Formats: sequence, structure tokens, C-alpha cells
Amino acid sequence: MINFYNLTKIFKLGGGFLSGEAKLLYALRNVSFEVEKGATLGIVGESGSGKSTLARVFIGLYKPDEGHFQYEDFKSGEMTDEKWKLFRQKVSMVFQDPYSSLNPRMKIKSILQEPFLIHKKYFPASKEERLKKIYKILDMVGLDKGSLDKYPHEFSGGQRQRIGIARALILTPEVIVLDEPVSALDVSIQAQILNLLKEIKKEMNLTYLFIAHDLSVIEYMSDKIVVMYLGSVLEEGPASELLKKPRHHYTRTLIDSMPDITKQKKDFKVIKGEIPSPINLPPGCVFASRCPAVKEKCRNEMPEKTKTKKGFFHCHYPLK
Ligand SMILES: Nc1ncnc2c1ncn2[C@@H]1O[C@H](COP(=O)(O)OP(=O)(O)OP(=O)(O)O)[C@@H](O)[C@H]1O
Ligand code: SF4
Ligand SMILES: [Mg+2]
Repeated sequence: MINFYNLTKIFKLGGGFLSGEAKLLYALRNVSFEVEKGATLGIVGESGSGKSTLARVFIGLYKPDEGHFQYEDFKSGEMTDEKWKLFRQKVSMVFQDPYSSLNPRMKIKSILQEPFLIHKKYFPASKEERLKKIYKILDMVGLDKGSLDKYPHEFSGGQRQRIGIARALILTPEVIVLDEPVSALDVSIQAQILNLLKEIKKEMNLTYLFIAHDLSVIEYMSDKIVVMYLGSVLEEGPASELLKKPRHHYTRTLIDSMPDITKQKKDFKVIKGEIPSPINLPPGCVFASRCPAVKEKCRNEMPEKTKTKKGFFHCHYPLK
């Protein structure tokens, strides 16, 4: 189980002699949820909702201002550098952009050997052992041995993302954070990569934290979904229930804005209004400026957490 407890991440913008007082941008506000071992947790939300910030806090790139997370005996805030190294072997990451996340000057062989060299204290593998593992993982992601002597630019976008996935798998992790792993790819390639990720998860018994702004991708992949908006989690629940019967108006509008290609649905609605600035947010519900059901109370009081059978939401006037 992975538990996130009240994570808050604030970026201080500006400040200093010429620009005056620093402004506070809340990229994460009191984010709490849990992920069961072996599950895929989907994190969805429009641009700027804090999805990547959450991923970065989890892999230790950002330190939260408040709150913590816990995975087994790894508790953020209490980890030594050694413990972080061990954690990063167990938790790896696949990035959105397969173009920029691979070093263009390194051959695939070196890209895939690098994690062994960084973590050699915990993985004292010989060259033969490393190569054996690399061949196995290459086969798993559908690439042949001939790829090893090539450079990233010699591959297509989909193949590059396969290399990114191979790199994330090379040290046999338990959890993978996937931050928009298919959004830079052509639609025709997206399904191949999503199916590959599903197969690998089953074979290696992995837990996924799967981030996307596209709800149809999240629906396809996830057991449970967390809906984020302006740094806050607005709703959380099992995928099937949340999509069939959302309680929060933001989840409803996200579902209504989803194009359904299979049903040739063409009348999907565009979410009205612009996302407000994340700096100096008003005191009430963060979705108030765009919500079709907004009332006076929403603008003044932040809605408390309401628990459902298997999840929760934050709304004063929820959908039935
Ligand atoms: N290093 C940073 N410095 C200042 N502000 C940041 C930084 N990183 C993120 N932010 C801000 O924090 C908020 C959340 O950003 P984040 O990248 O986590 O959103 P996201 O949900 O991943 O969006 P996207 O779908 O565009 O990737 C945004 O307002 C963003 O501008
Ligand atoms: S609290 Fe009010 S503004 Fe916020 S989602 Fe619920 S009804 Fe809409
Ligand atoms: Mg992002």
C-alpha cells in the first residue's frame, strides 16, 4: 500500500528587491489518498492540476512543504540518502516525452546499463548478468537485440517510449509512476503502448501510478481514479463507479467533455470557463468559478471531505 497524507507543495514566485513580495503558488493542497499494491491508480485533471508535481514529490525530486507519503517502511521526511537510493530502485518513472527523456548521445545499450551503474551497491551485477537482464527486458517491451547499438534518434516515437519503459523496468521495480506516457504519441501507437503496459504489469506484478489528462486513457488503465484540479483532489473512487456515477461536478464535466470515438459521439461539451490562476485562490471551492451548480456557500466555504463507500469527494451540493 502507498499512502499519501495531506501533501502540500508551494512554489514561491518572484519576490526580492525589485519584484516585491513573493507570491505563493499552491501546486498541491492537502493531497491524501491511498494506492493498493498491484493496482493501477489513475490520476486525471487538466493542465496545471498538480499531477506532475505529485509524481515529483513521490520520487523525491521535490520536498513537500507539508504532509508525507509512506510506502512499506519508506516514509518521506525520514529517509536518509541511502534509503532514497533503495526507494528509487523500487519505484521508477516513465516520462511523457520519449524524445527528451533519453540522452541523445548514448546508445541504447548504455541507456539501459546506466541504472545498474548508479545502483551498483545494491545490484552488484557482472557485465554478463546485466546483458542477460537487458535482453530479457528488451524482449518484454518488443524490441530486438539489434536496437542496443543504435541511438535514440534512430527510433520512432512509440519505439522510444518502449526504450523509456525498458529503462524503468531494468532494476525490477515494484511501483512505476507513468506521467502522461502516451500523450506525446500518435493515437494509433497509444493503444499499443497502453496494452504493453498492461501486459508488463501483470507479468511483473507491478503497481502503477498512471497520470493522464485524457479521461478515456485513464478509464482504460485504472482500477481507481483520483480527480485533481488546481492542486486539490476533488474526488476519488473505483474507476467504474466514479465514471458511472460521479458525485463531483468537475468529474461530471470531465466525463461530458470526453469524445467517444466508438459511439461516434460528436456532441461532447467543452468545459466552460478558464481555470483560475493558482496564485491567491479564493477561499471557497476551487471549482466554483466554472461549476454549473455553484451557490453562494461554494464561494465562501471550502467543502469538507465526504466519504463514500469506497472513496470520497469535496462538494457542498453533490450530484445524486
Ligand atoms: N518548478 C516549478 N516552479 C513554479 N511553479 C511550478 C513548478 N512546477 C509546477 N509549477 C506550477 O504548479 C502547478 C501544477 O503544475 P504541474 O506541472 O504539477 O501540473 P500538471 O497537472 O502536471 O499539468 P500538465 O497536464 O500540464 O502536465 C502549475 O500551476 C504549474 O505552473
Ligand atoms: S462545492 Fe459548489 S462550486 Fe464546488 S463543485 Fe460543489 S456545487 Fe460546484
Ligand atoms: Mg504534468
